[in-house]
Amino acid sequence: MQKMDKLLQQMLSQGVYVVGVAEGLETNAFTAAWVMQVSFAPVLLAISINPEHHSYQLLKNAGVCSVNVLSQQQMSLAEHFGQSGLEDKMARGTWILAATGAPVLQESLAYFDCKVSHEVAAGDHQLVICEVIEARQLNVGIPMLYSDTGTMDNSAELYQ
Ligand SMILES: Cc1cc2nc3c(=O)[nH]c(=O)nc-3n(C[C@H](O)[C@H](O)[C@H](O)COP(=O)(O)O)c2cc1C
Repeated sequence: MQKMDKLLQQMLSQGVYVVGVAEGLETNAFTAAWVMQVSFAPVLLAISINPEHHSYQLLKNAGVCSVNVLSQQQMSLAEHFGQSGLEDKMARGTWILAATGAPVLQESLAYFDCKVSHEVAAGDHQLVICEVIEARQLNVGIPMLYSDTGTMDNSAELYQ
């Protein structure tokens, strides 16, 4: 499977995002590459999330999230939010709350504030379909590509 995982990462163009979630006073965020627009009216995004992530519980319970676009210069943010079980994960970055209550990363290029519409099972992930409530550009730069992140997500080990 070595060859297929390289082709998936290098040839299927995807961005890199930090998805912010909140339930009550608890906030969290995780790095995601599997994010895409799937409808014009309403504007829907699909986020493919591993249901074992801590963020999934918050997303499921509260039904809101923000999709924050990383720039090519923000590799260390992608790495930081790609880790689980950090003591104070949200101490990294500057966070404000969007209209839905989801945390927004102020250093990102842009954010999409979302409400969960519904979920679809997709193999070992859940496709969370979200309606975009608000979208705003925060900074200027070139969006990061998943292909730039190399082995950061250790995904080669996840293929059967
Ligand atoms: C570049 C990169 C892309 C990633 N893409 C996804 C993704 O699309 N979906 C997903 O569920 N996890 C993805 N991950 C893994 C999560 O970010 C990672 O497991 C994170 O630790 C989950 O955090 P949490 O347990 O605090 O929610 C990605 C990680 C990296 C580094």
